[in-house]
Amino acid sequence: MINDKKVLFSAMQATGNLTLGNYLGALKNWTTLSDEYECFFAVADLHSITVRQDPAEFRKNARKLLTLFIAAGIDPEKNCIYYQSQVSAHAELAWILNCFTYMGELSRMTQFKDKSAKHADNINAGLFTYPALMAADILLYQADVVPVGKDQMQHLELTRDIAERFNAIYGDVFTIPEAYLGKAGAKIMSLQDPTKKMSKSDENANGSIYLMDDPDTIRRKFKRAVTDSEGAVRYSESQPGIMNLIDIYSTCTGKTAEEVEKEFEGQGYGVFKEAVGDAVVAVLEPLQKRFEELSKNKEYIDNCIKNNAEKAAYTATKTLRKVQKKVGFSEKIR
Ligand code: TYM
Repeated sequence: MINDKKVLFSAMQATGNLTLGNYLGALKNWTTLSDEYECFFAVADLHSITVRQDPAEFRKNARKLLTLFIAAGIDPEKNCIYYQSQVSAHAELAWILNCFTYMGELSRMTQFKDKSAKHADNINAGLFTYPALMAADILLYQADVVPVGKDQMQHLELTRDIAERFNAIYGDVFTIPEAYLGKAGAKIMSLQDPTKKMSKSDENANGSIYLMDDPDTIRRKFKRAVTDSEGAVRYSESQPGIMNLIDIYSTCTGKTAEEVEKEFEGQGYGVFKEAVGDAVVAVLEPLQKRFEELSKNKEYIDNCIKNNAEKAAYTATKTLRKVQKKVGFSEKIR
């Protein structure tokens, strides 16, 4: 609890173009929850260097991501938005938690397996211990809730296991966090292969809607979305492409899957796909406009983030000191 409010933590990597999956699965929920909780939102730049980055490009992307948080509706005066790399407690706690995380647990992480396959020439130790850093992110703020997409659930489960293991040895040090998954949109799939997650790194650009895609591109990608030959807009496991489109439409319009089925009863996929494209444009166009405006206002963004790293560090360091004491590190002589 901070200021009588429960605590929310989440983060996003600053690599590549964000997708509609990142927005509907995570960012959108951050904005709706931000009034209710004391929130910490980080640009997870420490995580990003587990894959090689071009420094100039990386710096630019990190800034863009932070601007996008604000453009999506997170008020930087009320919420703590910051760069993970600017709060050294993240790296310090990550080291300690590494010593409470088993090789077997880390080897089971599907993201590690996927990324190792994708970057076979750079399977570094950071990629392997990535979940311990993620646990540090969350546990430093004593977060009660962590809004993420389904693909991060395994990491969150591991965070809970690490926290429980630590608490069992040293007493109640960490709050055990709960995941927050949205009703729909927790796993947005590729428009070209609905059995695969929509991803920033998809080789087929038609499979992903990028947040900065223009309206024509968005509509065209939905028109080309892979569906099936059943011809009915039904929320059924046997129609993964249509199911994904219903999820996207529901999340953008606030309608339930049943309402969507009713709305498009007896209509062809063409009409439905057009409506999904329009609904996504209606959500992304204003977001893009706000992003463009904010990007021009360097001073505003600079001011918004100036004090936030310090604010985050204040809370994070409190937990870190407690942990250091518990494990038996010697106190600094001042
Ligand atoms: P990242 O940057 O890959 O993704 C950011 C958020 O977007 C969600 N997401 C999706 N949701 C629905 N459908 C999709 N297709 C989709 N693709 C991505 C992710 O689940 C995530 O919530 N390791 C994390 C960043 C991180 C973090 C943390 C998250 C670092 N520390 C602590 C929570 C708490 C990551 O790489 O997310």
